Amino acid sequence: MIRNTAVFESEEFRQMLTLAQTMEEPPQQDGSLRQAWFISRAHELVSEKEKQLGRKLTACVVTFGCQMNERDSEKLRGILRLAGYEESESEDADFVLYNTCTVRENANVRVYGRLGALSVYRRKNPEMVIGLCGCMMQEKDVVEKIRRDYRYVRLVFGTHNLHRFAELLVASLMSDSPVIDVVDKDDSIVENLPAERTYPFKSGVNIMFGCNNFCSYCIVPYVRGREKSREPKEILREIEQLVADGVVEVMLLGQNVNSYGKGLSEPVTFAQLLQEVEKIEGLERIRFMTSHPKDLSDDLIEVMAHSRKICRHLHLPVQSGSSRLLKIMNRHYTKESYLALVDRLKAAMPDLSLSTDIIVGFPGETEEDFLETMDIVRQVEYDSAFTFIYSKRTGTPAASMPDQISEEVIKDRFDRLLKEVQRIGRQRSSRFEGQILPVLVEDRNRQEAGLMTGRTPHNLVVHFPGDEDLAGKIVDVRLNEARGFYYMGERV
Ligand code: 5AD
Ligand code: SF4
Repeated sequence: MIRNTAVFESEEFRQMLTLAQTMEEPPQQDGSLRQAWFISRAHELVSEKEKQLGRKLTACVVTFGCQMNERDSEKLRGILRLAGYEESESEDADFVLYNTCTVRENANVRVYGRLGALSVYRRKNPEMVIGLCGCMMQEKDVVEKIRRDYRYVRLVFGTHNLHRFAELLVASLMSDSPVIDVVDKDDSIVENLPAERTYPFKSGVNIMFGCNNFCSYCIVPYVRGREKSREPKEILREIEQLVADGVVEVMLLGQNVNSYGKGLSEPVTFAQLLQEVEKIEGLERIRFMTSHPKDLSDDLIEVMAHSRKICRHLHLPVQSGSSRLLKIMNRHYTKESYLALVDRLKAAMPDLSLSTDIIVGFPGETEEDFLETMDIVRQVEYDSAFTFIYSKRTGTPAASMPDQISEEVIKDRFDRLLKEVQRIGRQRSSRFEGQILPVLVEDRNRQEAGLMTGRTPHNLVVHFPGDEDLAGKIVDVRLNEARGFYYMGERV
């Protein structure tokens, strides 16, 4: 992959690092200066260790889960890099940090499996430090299990204190016993922390944290806490700095971006925020996720339809096509109102590409409910759909609902649904064949030398002959041949 090699830190943060180096003690107040102080301290500790060992120290951050976690990991990597670690793509490293997900049970199972597999490297390198963070760590029984069965894990923290990673890292480097620091709530948003972007030319930008929706199957509100929006000026400043650093595409991130701005001292809507982001010179493309259908406003449709920069792709999780189940899921829309929303979107933007999330096997799902889901999938004609088997999450209302569905029934429904979404997706994806579209070139093609890979505004992947120096540029490509979910094309 064509990766970014440098950490991006804002001018403000650079000044804080310089100031922090002159301070004997860390500032008491929580914030980026305090974290800058701990980064300097971590750097001293890492340097000492390097002298002892006579080699550089390496770190590897592994991300599980969603784009929010991907973005968090970029921040964790940024801090590790400033602390003096060299990045390692392999888990055979001096510091290995798993940024975990817990949205479905199998995410947890994967983490335990990977932890076990680390023992090979641990035996080779007794200095190895293993850390765990992210959503899964917000579950009390998980932390208990780690304490009990995985004593070699040296550092555990959750989602609420991720911004204090530098401080926690220093604590774990200085301590002989594990550092476990998981808090239930921390409303502070620390701005200006450094990040190491995976791609030089595109970046996620958090616009809000947490979720207030409490869909009855979902654990996210319990592990990510209440919804909290960042101030628009902080978001705009971050994007301006990213653009100055070479970014042309941003993905605005939140569990429910359509309710952005509600708790701010001067409330701002998501549509208004987008209009401000659009004005940033040098920024070429704006994406966002996730949109909750219940909060998607006509203003947003209007802003999208008139925008030059907002990509014509919307991720609009439907979860189920059954109004009966949607009510029990606490989704606050019906099959009919969702379809009416899709109609308004398509009327305003006929070329809009739509993707979705669907859960199969929610407690009490009948064959009729499932057929409603199949029907909505056919009516909407999604370009792509992520289909999930319902996973029981302890503590959520759905976990104690009667009529949990048997594995065979779920599997049968899942297979039928998957077949249908793939058939429709393939058909939909080919609708641009022969057209010339602007493509943001992302990477070289790993399978075939001489080919580059990029994305259209509709989020479709295109492979075409080209040089590596095109990465990060937006070029016109003719989509010659649709091959399932991607295209083969040529530059024009
Ligand atoms: N089981 C299965 N899928 C789930 N999701 C959230 N919680 C669960 C669960 N308990 C899915 C939803 C959501 C996506 C991010 O994950 O479809 O939109
Ligand atoms: Fe979970 Fe619903 Fe919040 Fe999405 S909107 S994170 S599905 S509770």
